Amino acid sequence: MKRIMTVFGTRPEAVKMAPLIRALKNDEELDPIVVVTAQHREMLDSVLQTFKLTPDYDLNIMKPNQSLSEITANILSQLDKVFDEAQPDMVLVHGDTMSTFAGSLAALYKEIPIGHVEAGLRTWDKHSPFPEEMNRQMVGVMADINFAPTQKAAENLVEENKPKESIVITGNTAIDAMNYTLSDNYQSEVITKHSGQKVILLTAHRRENIGEPMANIFEAVREIADQYKDITIVYPVHKNPKVRELAQHYLSHHERIELIEPLEVADFHNFANQAYLILTDSGGVQEEMPSLGKPVLVLRDTTERPEGVEAGTLKIVGTAKNYIVEELSKLIDHEDAYQSMAKANNPYGDGLASSRIVGHIKYYFGLTNSKPRPFSS
Ligand code: UD1
Ligand code: UDP
Repeated sequence: MKRIMTVFGTRPEAVKMAPLIRALKNDEELDPIVVVTAQHREMLDSVLQTFKLTPDYDLNIMKPNQSLSEITANILSQLDKVFDEAQPDMVLVHGDTMSTFAGSLAALYKEIPIGHVEAGLRTWDKHSPFPEEMNRQMVGVMADINFAPTQKAAENLVEENKPKESIVITGNTAIDAMNYTLSDNYQSEVITKHSGQKVILLTAHRRENIGEPMANIFEAVREIADQYKDITIVYPVHKNPKVRELAQHYLSHHERIELIEPLEVADFHNFANQAYLILTDSGGVQEEMPSLGKPVLVLRDTTERPEGVEAGTLKIVGTAKNYIVEELSKLIDHEDAYQSMAKANNPYGDGLASSRIVGHIKYYFGLTNSKPRPFSS
């Protein structure tokens, strides 16, 4: 049995690691060990509950308004002991958070092979997104296997001279997660409450947007709510206190703007499926929405997820108030503009990413002679 340890800590990592952990559990030759840093607490626990996962180790590091150094130091100081006790044969990390970076660094220091899930996403701009672009580049240097979700992500790694044999194209496990959460007859409070309404679903939390950019975004959203009386804007507000303060300040007390608590992930996916349009600065949401055929306006100046832009479902609109209002109005006023973006397509995955990753791990350890066929969109 090979002991495969997953280390993660935030909501998006949990959503995208959960199907992989379930696939590892189903393999008789692999023994999964689940370590959560709990860089997020409530938002992490909610995902673990949805996917019925119980961590083997919980570092429980979250503090209000934690700094990047604090998160990194707390994780590093605890992981050595966990590695010594659990003796993993491989450590898997996901994406680009502080948990990803610190988890990899701790594994590197113990000379444990590292598998990087969702490897190769790049903007090549160290400030955007911050600190995620640096985290994923640094993890890329440390990783032994790079599980690139798309062809483009794999090309980025080749450009950085990563050994070709270390790069495999798997699709994104976000799509595997949606296969688990989406259901035709899903019912919940938020879905019933907004059934039949024209809902714009908003998510916004990026660290580099906090401050003026987020204020601009929120002013644009309020202007749209003022202008269009048939539209309701629903914003499940991220738990970050700085985000919550701005959201309260700019968006409260409007009859067509609803600020709600973060939604449980199955609720979020199924509610998004009934929404009219998505407005977001989230990475994961950009990957998920194209498969639902929802137009997504991305509240950032760059994206490391160009596949959805090429497919026509994502549009980068930045954080300038007037431009956001203009682009939103265009879609609301012109049915043809809306329809040209509202096409279901799936550049990010086919629901089989987790089984490909498991296959590659087995190949790495010589437990099988055949490599899984790469994902192609
Ligand atoms: C983190 C990741 C970011 C990812 C995002 C997903 C880093 C640097 N950032 O950003 O890449 O896109 O998660 O959401 O790794 N909080 C709670 N409860 C929770 C979660 C957060 O109270 O369940 C509050 C805490 O006060 C915490 C703060 O939010 O200190 C910020 O959390 P943190 O993980 O530092 O940053 P995020 O902005 O969430
Ligand atoms: N999500 C959720 N509830 C919400 C908003 C988002 O479960 O109220 C999910 C979403 O479906 C996606 C993930 O959270 O899987 C994205 O997380 P987030 O936007 O916090 O981080 P990012 O992807 O930007 O790193």
